[in-house]
Amino acid sequence: MKELNVLINNARLEKRLDEMAKEIEKDYKGKEIVFIGILKGSVPFMWELAKRIKNNIIFEFIEVSSYINNESSGKVILHKDIKSSIEGKDVIIVEDIVDTGKTLDFLLKHLEEKNAKSVKIATLLSKPSRRVIELNVDYIGFKIDDKYVVGFGLDDNQNLRNLPYIGYYE
Ligand code: IMP
Repeated sequence: MKELNVLINNARLEKRLDEMAKEIEKDYKGKEIVFIGILKGSVPFMWELAKRIKNNIIFEFIEVSSYINNESSGKVILHKDIKSSIEGKDVIIVEDIVDTGKTLDFLLKHLEEKNAKSVKIATLLSKPSRRVIELNVDYIGFKIDDKYVVGFGLDDNQNLRNLPYIGYYE
């Protein structure tokens, strides 16, 4: 059996979520925000962040995949697009982790033609050393080393998404 270690415990996650929510509230000052969550990994992060923010938040979801058997295939496939118009709206794309940057690069291009007023990115985790495409990520929870992590939405072949902390295998 592989042993699972704790990288970021729940208390640290909660503290950082409080800080990120405050930052977003300050930047958007009472404006409505559309959160576009990238399925499936962003779901816990999106909810935990949204419930801490007083602004009205519209939930949209988009589904893409690029990882096959815990390895980045480098090719991003769109499985499900957003349903409503985001024209003229302030959008935050909500992601679980930015790794190579290919998923977000693809999504930024995909959303461009939908004419939002603004598009920012919030991610719980970022692995800067793995970046292939440089992106401006507006809100980052934690920068981490090049480790495969699970929990808080992140999966190991669809498992362990419900862990209340971020874990990794040595
Ligand atoms: P990117 O396109 O390489 O930036 O990859 C982003 C996607 O890869 C994320 O949304 C995750 O689904 C997946 N991913 C990257 N690193 C990890 C990891 O350490 N654990 C779980 N999923 C990961």
